[in-house]
Amino acid sequence: VKGGFGTFMEKEIHDQPKAVADTLLGRTDGQGNLVLDELRIDEAVLRSVDKIIVIACGTAAYAGHVAKYAVEHWCRIPVEVELAHEFRYRDPVVSEKTLVVAISQSGETMDTIMAVRHAREQGAKVLAVVNTHGSTIPRESDAVLYTHAGPEVAVASTKAFLAQITACYLLGLYLAQLRGNKFPDEVAGYLEELGKLPEKIQHVIDHADEVRAVAEAMKDASSVLFLGRHVGYPVALEGALKLKELAYIHAEGFAAGELKHGPIALIEEGQPVFFIVPTPRRPVLHNKVVSNIQEVRARGARTLVIAEEGDEAVNEFADVVFRVPRTPTLMMPLVTVVPLQIFACALAGAKGYDVDQPRNLAKSVTVE
Ligand code: F6R
Repeated sequence: VKGGFGTFMEKEIHDQPKAVADTLLGRTDGQGNLVLDELRIDEAVLRSVDKIIVIACGTAAYAGHVAKYAVEHWCRIPVEVELAHEFRYRDPVVSEKTLVVAISQSGETMDTIMAVRHAREQGAKVLAVVNTHGSTIPRESDAVLYTHAGPEVAVASTKAFLAQITACYLLGLYLAQLRGNKFPDEVAGYLEELGKLPEKIQHVIDHADEVRAVAEAMKDASSVLFLGRHVGYPVALEGALKLKELAYIHAEGFAAGELKHGPIALIEEGQPVFFIVPTPRRPVLHNKVVSNIQEVRARGARTLVIAEEGDEAVNEFADVVFRVPRTPTLMMPLVTVVPLQIFACALAGAKGYDVDQPRNLAKSVTVE
């Protein structure tokens, strides 16, 4: 069942190229057009959507956070991302023109179920992005876009996260196609880039020995920080969550731009800090993160940098560089999160912890 791996977590990390490929499979007409008939929401309704609210918890909410960057850019529809349990207990502004996207691996997370009910009571259309067929959330939603990650057994989510992000890209491109924000050839171009992702994720997985070695050497760390900008920000949050869950180490993710607004006070000699660096092809984003690396390095931090192949600007300030293949900015989370998952898994393994069944956690949280 573990496919020759010692743990489900390792197997599921290795399943990720397939999880992304399977989520893309069969959703185009072969001519570069997206076909999401399964959505069953009237096209006129989708054309009239004036706001999207993503509701989810934990890792699934970080997938929603990535989706916000892509969907707003492609569709020019405002996207809010909200933790399901927070959405549920305030008085959210929702109308018939609001599309609520509920993201969940299990489809059984009670906080998310309650938020779905609340949204529908207010007249919103709810679209579920869910991995588990026949679960409660898709049954209670207006439509469902399934992620095809296959069963996820390890408690901490990995492959479902990549599949959720992929499904959200499809949704964003579909809305852009439908609403005429993007020309068909542009949509086809993005789909072609997405199609290359499984191979790139595989490349990261196949070149992770150094990530594991660094993780094992850091098994006595008491705190690790993660910084990212733009789509690297939710990746930083996810990297920190994986480390907390699997290795029980204090970890925090920040938007790199926040550094000077507070977190830099935490930096002292030897503090490990991960950076998720945007592509140098987006110099405005890239240069700012490189200066952040420089700033914390000057204060004695140990800098662990995830950067694109060929990005030599980071070398001077990085103690360690983990490389990822060149990827369009909005799609970078699919490759940059992988070293962070492998890091957390290897570090927890080095501490002798059960990575499939971390203490105090359950695979699906079926109580509020
Ligand atoms: C983190 C993790 C959790 C889940 C969250 C939502 O590794 O697994 O944060 O992402 O509990 O669960 P689902 O996606 O089943 O609604």
